[in-house]
Order: sequence, then structure tokens, then C-alpha cells
Amino acid sequence: MGSAEEDDQPRPSDITVFGANCTLHGLSHIFLPGGVTVRRLLWAAAFLSSLSIFLYQVAGAVMDYMSYPHVTILDEMDSPVMYFPAITLCNYNSFRRSKMVRNDLFWMAGMLGVEQNDFDDFMAALGQPPDNSKFFPSKTFNMLEFVQRTSHSIDEMLLDCKYRGKDCGPENFTTIYTRYGKCYTFNSGLDGNPLLTTLKGGTGNGLEIMLDIQQDEYLPVWGDTDETSYEAGIKVQIHSQDEPPFIDQLGFGVAPGFQTFVSCQQQLLLYLPPPWGDCRSAPMDSEYFSTYSITACRIDCETRYLLENCNCRMVHMPGTSTVCTPEQYKDCADPALDFLVEKDNDYCVCDTPCNMTRYGKELSMVKIPSKASAKYLAKKFNKTEQYITDNILVLDIFFEALNYEKIEQKKAYEVAGLLGDIGGQMGLFIGASVLTILEIFDYLYEVLKDKILGSVLRKRRPHRSASDNLSTCDTLRSHSDSLGFAPNVLPSHSTIGNFEEFAC
Ligand SMILES: *[C@@H]1O[C@H](CO)[C@@H](O)[C@H](O)[C@H]1NC(C)=O
Ligand SMILES: *[C@@H]1O[C@H](CO)[C@@H](O)[C@H](O)[C@H]1NC(C)=O
Ligand SMILES: *[C@@H]1O[C@H](CO)[C@@H](O)[C@H](O)[C@H]1NC(C)=O
Ligand SMILES: *[C@@H]1O[C@H](CO)[C@@H](O)[C@H](O)[C@H]1NC(C)=O
Repeated sequence: MGSAEEDDQPRPSDITVFGANCTLHGLSHIFLPGGVTVRRLLWAAAFLSSLSIFLYQVAGAVMDYMSYPHVTILDEMDSPVMYFPAITLCNYNSFRRSKMVRNDLFWMAGMLGVEQNDFDDFMAALGQPPDNSKFFPSKTFNMLEFVQRTSHSIDEMLLDCKYRGKDCGPENFTTIYTRYGKCYTFNSGLDGNPLLTTLKGGTGNGLEIMLDIQQDEYLPVWGDTDETSYEAGIKVQIHSQDEPPFIDQLGFGVAPGFQTFVSCQQQLLLYLPPPWGDCRSAPMDSEYFSTYSITACRIDCETRYLLENCNCRMVHMPGTSTVCTPEQYKDCADPALDFLVEKDNDYCVCDTPCNMTRYGKELSMVKIPSKASAKYLAKKFNKTEQYITDNILVLDIFFEALNYEKIEQKKAYEVAGLLGDIGGQMGLFIGASVLTILEIFDYLYEVLKDKILGSVLRKRRPHRSASDNLSTCDTLRSHSDSLGFAPNVLPSHSTIGNFEEFAC
């Protein structure tokens, strides 16, 4: 504002004009025309303290948002139909003694802990005649073929099977290899079989199987090795069809001589990916599995570890690389895998998936057979009573109720919440809105425009000081004339007045 051209009418860039028109509370009391008074100073102090409280609150809200908090919600969801889980079972014993021949022993001796000069004793323990006269070992040995041939077969183990009162049989089980050898999965959803559903909770609406664990076929224990077990029974894992079984780590045991009731409760867990949580939302980058799960990740990782360290895979591992020989099993694969499972915490790091299904279990058991039924069962299955007591088990797996628990992590503070909080603080402390911010920008623009115009004018003053304040109006008038506007056709008087006031 040049001192020579001081106007009565305040410019839009004048702070008093801004203070009077601005919707920001308090400014109109501070920027009044006139001198500094105590009242204005107090208003200014009140405004500044409100502004700082507002900024402090906003900073707190933004920091809260940036810490990405989450809450966990537990909900019980009813469902008219529920998919039955996959049930994988393995016999504790890996190799049947009646299927072992002398050639197998020759190759497997190291793994079973049998010394060279114990061969005859071991064969005798297997119940086979010691005739080493006409024995020649084979040149190669196929571990996979050996496991397939000697593992317990479901046809012999399964005595009775019922799903929701309907009979089922060995054909309803699919074969899968685990560290226990050949295992069997009911309701795997593979081979084009549809998933089984259940419409009610309770014992009658689940799976009931009677198994013969065939203790007569258990391999004699000759030494402490990974392939021998002291226990008798089966290992069972209840899992979703999306994840492979990991039965040696996650299964539970079922003993012969008992009927075991397993009541399941399905749980759906939904976790949040970073930065809110720590689940893994990326798809599985594995050549063996398509869906990500912790067990798929661990099996994939163990397979890669063995391929790197031993150049072979174990029978239960996925893929098409060569299967380890018995020597490789004993010298490399078994120790490497044990090391990986028990000691190494860095190689296999498997994050929780963002979406997974888990089955909570409650187990209870009763004795079977009772004294009263032993005789009948012995007759029914053509075995001795002792055999029935030692070998028979019944397993009942059912849903507790037709509902599932949903445990879900949710974002506790989202952008909408942050904006709401900032808006609330803004209204409470400074009475502003988004449009007020626009007003401030508008004012800054006016000030800037004035500054630039002013400096340009000041530079040019020496040349055109005489006609300075009229030049714009003159050009404008001549311009409107050249456009052909007659004075009476021009817009109403007041508009022209405003126009002139603005332009001059
Ligand atoms: C068992 O398999 C048979 C033949 O595939 C099929 O008809 C039957 O429905 C299955 N039963 C159950 C309970 O899955
Ligand atoms: C969980 O994942 C399955 C398949 O991976 C999908 O069908 C389902 O909709 C997902 N559930 C939720 C709640 O995201
Ligand atoms: C019962 O088992 C014995 C041998 O264990 C066998 O000789 C007999 O034929 C069997 N009887 C029936 C009816 O299967
Ligand atoms: C500037 O305008 C005022 C009236 O607005 C006028 O009195 C004055 O003479 C003008 N100055 C020049 C140099 O034209």
C-alpha cells in the first residue's frame, strides 16, 4: 500500500477485512481497526491458547492413528449347515512285520538299529525262518515302495465306519504320507468327493469308526531310532481341508481299549495384515501348495531344507525329487529334520495366515470292550478276547453345536474416525471447518497478489506516475466499447459501480 494512494475503502488483503469476514471464532475481536487495547490482547491470548490445545489434540489423534491399533472381537455365529473337517489318522507303527522280508532288513537294518550279526535273531523275532543260505540282496532299494508295501492298510484296520448313521468304508479314506508312513484322511475333499456337511450337533451326527490297530504286526523294537515307537495306538488330527496334515507335531493320540469321544468346536480366526497386525496376506509362493497355511509353510520349508542339505526328500514330502535311501535317512535326513524341528528357529519362520479355521477339541473316553461285551465282540470279529482288549478302539468325532466362534481382529481407528476427531476438536476449540481453511488460503492469496502487484507498480512508477491510477479503467472501457456494448445495454448500474470500484 503506497502511502500516496491510501484508500478509505479497505482492500481484501487487509487483515481487518479478513478478521471481520472470517468464520474462525475470535478473529473478529482481535483484528479490529484501531489501536491495540487490553480487550484485543485478551482475545488474542484466548485464541492462541485454543489453537494450541487444538493442535495438541490433533497431534495426539494422528499419533494414535499412526500406531495402527486393533481390537479383537469374539463372536458366536450360528450356521444352518457346517462342513465337516478332514480327519487324518495314522497307526503309531510304521512297518508291518509280516510284510518285512530279509532284503528289507538288509537295507533297513541301520534305520531300525539292528546290527549285522543280529539279523537272524531279528528275523526270528519277526517269526520268519532263518535261511540265509539262498539270500542275495537287491542292487537298489526303493524306500517309497517299501513304505507302501509295509504300512498298515485301512482295509485291515477299519472294522466299522459310520457317518451320520450312513455306512462308510475304506473307499471313503484317501491315502496320505506323513512321518508315520501311510496315513488315511476321511473327508479330504480330494478325488472329486464333495465335502460332507452336518446339520446337527452331537454324537449321532458325526463320524464313528472302529479300528483294529493290529499290535501283532508291530515291528519288534531293537534299538532307539526315529522309526520305532514304544507306544501302541493311533494318532489323529482334525484339520481343515485347506491345510495338509502335520500329524507328528499336531495330532493327538487315541489308545486301544477305549472309546474316545471328541467334541469339536469350529473357530474361524481372522487376523489383520501389517501395519495393524502381523498376519501374512500374500499368497503361497511354493511349488507344492496353493493355499497358504502354517503347516503348508512348514512342510514346504522342511522339504527345501532337506533338498539343500541331503539332496533328497523323505517319503512324506511333496515333490518329484528322488526319495532318500535308507542310508541317507539315517545319516542325513532324520538328524537334519530333528535339528530343524527342535533347534533351528530361523530357517522356517511361518507367519499366521490372515484367515484360518481351527477346531477346538474336548476329549473323553470310556472303556471298550466291557466285560459283558468282550465275548460277543471276540465272536463277531473271530479273535480272542485278549486280542479285542489290546487292539480295538472306537473313535467318535462330532460337532458340539451347529455354531462356530469367530475371533476377528478389527482396525480400532480408521481414517473416518481420525477425521471425525479432528473435526470435533476443531469445532470445540477454534470453530473452524474445512471451508475456513479455504478462507485462510483465499486471504493469503490476496496478500500475495497485493505484494506482487505493489512491487511491480513501485518499480514502474517513475515512467507512468501521472496516469497511474486511471490506466486500467481506461483500457477496460475502451475494451468494452470495442466489443460493441452500448452504454445502455451494459448490465445494471450497481454492477458497473462494483466493477469500477474493484477495477480502479
Ligand atoms: C463313501 O464312498 C461312497 C463311494 O464313493 C459314496 O457313495 C458314499 O457316499 C461315501 N460315504 C460317505 C459317508 O462319504
Ligand atoms: C477365508 O478364506 C476363504 C478361502 O481362502 C474364503 O472363501 C473366505 O471367504 C475367507 N473368509 C473371510 C471372512 O475372509
Ligand atoms: C477264524 O479265525 C481262524 C484263525 O484265526 C480261522 O482259521 C477261521 O477260519 C476263522 N473263522 C471264520 C468264520 O472266519
Ligand atoms: C487519480 O484518481 C483520483 C480520483 O480517483 C484523481 O483525483 C487523481 O487526479 C488521479 N491521479 C492521476 C495522476 O490521474
